[in-house]
Amino acid sequence: MAETKQSAGILGLGSYVPERILTNADLEKIVDTSDEWIFSRTGIKQRHVADEATATSDIAAGAAKRALAHAGIKAEELDLIIVATATPDMFFPSTACLVQEKIGATHAAAFDLAAGCSGFVYGLTVATQFIQAGLYQRVLVIGAETLSKILDWTDRNTCVLFGDGAGAAVIGPVPAGYGVLGVELGADGHGGELLKMPAGGSRRPPSAETVAQRLHYVHMNGNEVFKFAIKVMGEAAQKALQKAGMTDADVDYLIPHQANIRIIQSAAKRLQLPMEKVHVNVDRYGNTSAASIPIALEEAVLEGKVKNGDKLVLVGFGAGLTWAACVLRWYKEDSSVGE
Ligand code: UT7
Repeated sequence: MAETKQSAGILGLGSYVPERILTNADLEKIVDTSDEWIFSRTGIKQRHVADEATATSDIAAGAAKRALAHAGIKAEELDLIIVATATPDMFFPSTACLVQEKIGATHAAAFDLAAGCSGFVYGLTVATQFIQAGLYQRVLVIGAETLSKILDWTDRNTCVLFGDGAGAAVIGPVPAGYGVLGVELGADGHGGELLKMPAGGSRRPPSAETVAQRLHYVHMNGNEVFKFAIKVMGEAAQKALQKAGMTDADVDYLIPHQANIRIIQSAAKRLQLPMEKVHVNVDRYGNTSAASIPIALEEAVLEGKVKNGDKLVLVGFGAGLTWAACVLRWYKEDSSVGE
């Protein structure tokens, strides 16, 4: 398609998760739930949870350093940092600016992007435009979340589902025919009510009342989000493939958002992919929202499941409601880990 444009792809990947692990057995002691319920309904066994002193920018910076090492570039060489997150350290300054300072990316512009769990693929798409336009050479995209900080630990409907983590990718020029080949982004604001943090913003500023009503936590209609996800994951992936001039049969490996094993299996079925061609780590991390796709992608690359020339589909959905899919033809001169 874009012969005249500079191709853009991933030059390096990195992830970072907090050390502390919370198992389903630990959750059984906090809320009325069971390992059997959680695992059979979601595929989750454990998740990582940040301690009190750790915020989103801390784990984002950890992932960023690893991605820079993997790409073999210095922080000062970055032109732009995009952090996709629903759990910024604070409203402002942006978490991207905090990461810029932490890693010493003195020449980088920086901003946050809010697209829920679709945020990393949204960010990857934005970064790709800057490279293709020739405006920037090195863009760092990070999906980072500390969902544990906004979970209601008395609500079994939500607190068992999420985990903390960060995944980062350095985006830059790659040879023609590689990198990002097709993208499908979408949103449906009608579904905004289904997954939200009701208070704390300009609609309902924080007050003693909003705290007492537990409105500063994740509120979700899980069942409706589930139905939306089942529909949109396969659809979005197929639209991105179409834009890349490909079909289901061309997909070598699927990197889906890790929200629920049943949603992942349904997407694989729609794309007629055997589960061996699908990366799954929801059992170990839970749903890390915007971080889940880059964490899964790095893992797949490190495990040798992704080879140069492979056609990958990255696909996710999330609050907004939003969805995002991207066809990526993998290219890396040296796929060894940096740090
Ligand atoms: O990244 C986007 C973020 N959101 C998501 O990905 C969520 C998508 N949704 C889902 O993954 C699923 O809808 C859930 C895992 C959240 C729920 O699974 P479900 O099969 O849709 O269950 P359900 O909501 O229909 O609930 C079934 C029952 C309910 O009990 P009753 O009303 O039938 O008696 C719930 O109260 O399961 C109960 N339940 C639990 N039981 C034990 C809900 N959470 C729990 C729990 N432990 N943690």
